[in-house]
This record gives sequence, structure tokens and C-alpha cells, in this order.
Amino acid sequence: MISSRVPALLGGAPTFQPSLAFTRPAVPPFAELAPEFEEILNSGGLTKGPRLAKLEAALQDHLRSPNVVCVNSCTSGLILGIQSLKLSGEVIVPSFSFMASFHALKWNNLTPVFVDCLPYALTVDLAAVRAAVTPRTCAIMSAYVFGNPPYLVELDQLAKELGLAHFCDSAHGIGTLIDGAPAGNHGDFEVFSCSPTKLLTAAEGGVVSTRRPEIAQWIRSGRDYGNPGSYDCDFAGLNARMSEFHAAIMLAGLPRLESYVQARQRLVDLYQERLKHLPGLRFQEVRPGVRSSHKDFPIFIEAQAFGLHRNQLQKALLAEGIPTRAYFDPPGHQLTCYKQTLDLPVTLKMCAEVLCLPMSSLMTEQEAERVCQCLIELQQQAPALAKAAALE
Ligand SMILES: Cc1ncc(COP(=O)(O)O)c(C=O)c1O
Repeated sequence: MISSRVPALLGGAPTFQPSLAFTRPAVPPFAELAPEFEEILNSGGLTKGPRLAKLEAALQDHLRSPNVVCVNSCTSGLILGIQSLKLSGEVIVPSFSFMASFHALKWNNLTPVFVDCLPYALTVDLAAVRAAVTPRTCAIMSAYVFGNPPYLVELDQLAKELGLAHFCDSAHGIGTLIDGAPAGNHGDFEVFSCSPTKLLTAAEGGVVSTRRPEIAQWIRSGRDYGNPGSYDCDFAGLNARMSEFHAAIMLAGLPRLESYVQARQRLVDLYQERLKHLPGLRFQEVRPGVRSSHKDFPIFIEAQAFGLHRNQLQKALLAEGIPTRAYFDPPGHQLTCYKQTLDLPVTLKMCAEVLCLPMSSLMTEQEAERVCQCLIELQQQAPALAKAAALE
């Protein structure tokens, strides 16, 4: 039964505490980590130690990448990777991405030129990229969206044809397979995030994967202030090191990654099976040959057909204790710090309709079932709820 709180909520701010987690980090049990942590503490080598080296080797193997460098966040990895390319001018970037994509450009004094995404796939529209190229363009930045990769091969080709750099914000990409191959082998470099909302977490962390050894070298030095070891820095780096504790958490998680993807796939199958008949509700479109990491599970709510606007549905779900996120609304070109008047109709439509449902590697099928049941009931009661909200 839908609670009587719903009609009141449709018009106002949500006030109820969620009884279900939007996402929860999957971390190895403490008993497994405790001896590692003890050894790190006793050794005194809290950072720049053997676990970091071991993690980088393991990830190189896992990603089938020639060069992997771990840093303390995806954002710092992006900043350093972009810095290594010594660019100036404009970078074409999808507006439908997370703020860190754009900030990494800003920290390198580059100008983001926001372009549209593909409807429902949410990744950057290649035609829009091509149309945005000017003599000032120096690079293309692409991004995975919720585990769905952009058209990386085509973007690489386009960048080559136009003589541009191409790098990818692959924050959501760990666990994704493209034609059976792991992410991390396209563009000049890709950067994954290992923050708590990602499938494989280090608590906080980032992983740079690149086919170009000189970029890996730049980031190794750049995560350590740009100090090549002699104290005579040839560029201004950051402190972007990954500590031994973080590396130990991620090392213990890596063998579990595949089971996390499988767990999410089961939830996605359940969500899709239960919700596919609802009018005005659509799923993210992932092209054949791609296995998404399902970092998030977005649905799209077309207000007219569903009977409620996305924002109303979000409040109604929260009233039932179910938290959701409208990622990435507002999009990049509408963020106060980048504000540009642009016509990006697909991005705006996606931003108005998208709603990410609860998803984690630890979520149970019963929890997903509860979300589905609630969505189904809300849709059935949509006319009455919308009317009640209008009278509030
Ligand atoms: C698309 C995207 N890029 C970059 C980031 C930033 O990652 P981090 O928090 O590791 O810096 C995130 C964080 O969720 C993200 O979603």
C-alpha cells in the first residue's frame, strides 16, 4: 500500500529518512584486512610501499593494460593525465557527465566546450563532437556513463583524423567489458574512480591506465609533487599518492570484482523484468557487445505517459523510504561555474527524465523487488497522486 504521506510530499521538500540505502560500498571483511593493516602500521611504510606496487601489477594484468598508475582519486588522475599532454585551448566534452570531468579541464586552464549526448545511451554523440571542432580545439574528452562506455574506437579514430588528443573519464568503467575486453585501453589515457560508490573501491582512489609509457611516467612523478627524486621538480605536481591502506583494501577487493558485476546484473535483470511494462518508463540503452559495470541503474520517466514528473516520483519514492538520485542534473553547461547558453536538447531531456534507482553489489533481490513494487503502485495511482499534489 502506498502511504498516505505521498500526496503531501509531491508538492514539498522530502522530509522522510530512507529505509533503504541508495548504494553501499562492497568492501572485504575486516578480518581479512586486519593483518594487512597491522603489518602496514608495524612496518612504518604507510605510503609508497609494496602494496601499491602489487596493486598496480594486479590491475595491469586485470585490465590487460601496459601501464597502470594508482592515485588518490579519479579527479587527480584526470588532472595529472591532462597536464601531461601540455594542451591549450578548447576541449570538447559531453555536458552529461559528473562535475569532476569539467573541473579537471579547468584545473589545466582548458576551456570546456559542452556537447550533447546520445538519447538513452547517455554517452557523447560523435556527430556533435565533430560539429563542435574549431581551430581552437585541442582534445576530446569522453566519459563512461553509469558503466556504459562511449564509442571509444570511433572517438580514437576521429581524434587521430583531426590530430586531437582523446582521453576518457572512465570513473564508472571498472567491471565494464567491450567486446569481451576490459576498459582502460583507449585514448591517450583512461582514469577509473575507486571512491566508495564504485564497484571496486579503495575507500578513495583513482587508477590511470594508458598505452603511453611517458604519460604513466608523468603521473608517477606528478602524484609525488612532480619530484623526480632529486627534489628538482620540472613541473608542478600534486600530492596524489595512494596510501598502503587504500591499496590493501583495493587489492583484497579485486578478486571479488567479477562477483560484484554479476550481483548487479541479477538486480538489473530483476528491475527490467518487473518494470518493463510500465508506461513512460525506459531503461539505459547499452549497445551489443558491451557488458556494463552497472555502476548505477538509471530509468527515464516521460511525465505525460507515466503520469508523474520525475521530480514528483523521486519525492514519492523517498516518502516510502526509497532514495534515488537524478544524476547528472544539472548538466555541465548549466553548472553555475561553467554556465553557458547552449542548445543541447538531448542532454536537457535526459536530465529531466533520468532517475537512478538504488543499486549496489550488496543490495538484495528483496530490496530491488520492494523498489519495483513501489514504482508499480505509484504509477497505478499516478492520476490520483498528481491531482492531490495539484490541490496542495
Ligand atoms: C563520471 C565521474 N568522473 C569523475 C568522478 C570523480 O571521481 P573521484 O571521486 O574518484 O575523484 C566521478 C565520481 O563519482 C564520476 O562519477
